Amino acid sequence: MRRNILAGNWKMNTSLFEGIELFNSIVEKSYSFSDKNIHFIIAPPYTHLATMDANRLINLSLAAQNCSKNENGAFTGEISVDIIKSVGAKAVIIGHSEIRQNFNEKNSSLKEKVDVAIGKGLDIIYCCGETDKNRNQNDQESVVENQVSEALFHLSYSDFGKVIVAYEPVWAIGTGITASPEQAQNIHAFIRGLISNRFDTSLANSTSILYGGSCNSKNAKDLFECKDIDGGLIGGASLKADEFIHIATTLVAAKDNE
Ligand code: 13P
Repeated sequence: MRRNILAGNWKMNTSLFEGIELFNSIVEKSYSFSDKNIHFIIAPPYTHLATMDANRLINLSLAAQNCSKNENGAFTGEISVDIIKSVGAKAVIIGHSEIRQNFNEKNSSLKEKVDVAIGKGLDIIYCCGETDKNRNQNDQESVVENQVSEALFHLSYSDFGKVIVAYEPVWAIGTGITASPEQAQNIHAFIRGLISNRFDTSLANSTSILYGGSCNSKNAKDLFECKDIDGGLIGGASLKADEFIHIATTLVAAKDNE
């Protein structure tokens, strides 16, 4: 059985005080999920990580929103995997479209980040997804295939087991427009097929593939009822504890009914 995962990407939001309040509130509301098939991942700003004790819950861990491909040294403003590990995070988001766009990140550079992160024992949430221009040209599958294969398919079988894939169509991020369940399911199944072709069906079936892009408590049910959508990478709606927990309840219910 693969893991259902609900991840909150807080992006550049919350002061330290607000972040601690939000984290504590999510932790308190998450206790009731301890016997369910759901794992929570919280990715706050780097500065908050050391103040958050993720060991309070077995089914919750912390992630950084990015990492450097360099191990250490004179890289002003960057954060290494070792620093991320030293503050208790167990995972890192790699390849978010905002970083791809704002810093012109290429799959080749993301591949280096993947290697450093996995080599040092972090799990990764690897983001992929097409722009609206790609989709208008019906190029979504080839774009996603390149993103996934160029940065991940050199990994060994066992290292790929540390990868969570997040499909985040760029046109749906922060726009209030969500991919339809059919659009999302099609790409999720496509990604699972790529993993199956590269490795095998068993690894493909055990890889969690999350949907991200304006997912909230209203549209979560229809998305999570799709068989290849194993949870969400949530932006805006992860900044309110009640809303985030509502989405978690929806995820558990949708998968219980499968
Ligand atoms: P929104 O949920 O705000 O659209 O953001 C999605 C996202 O980018 C998560 O990484």
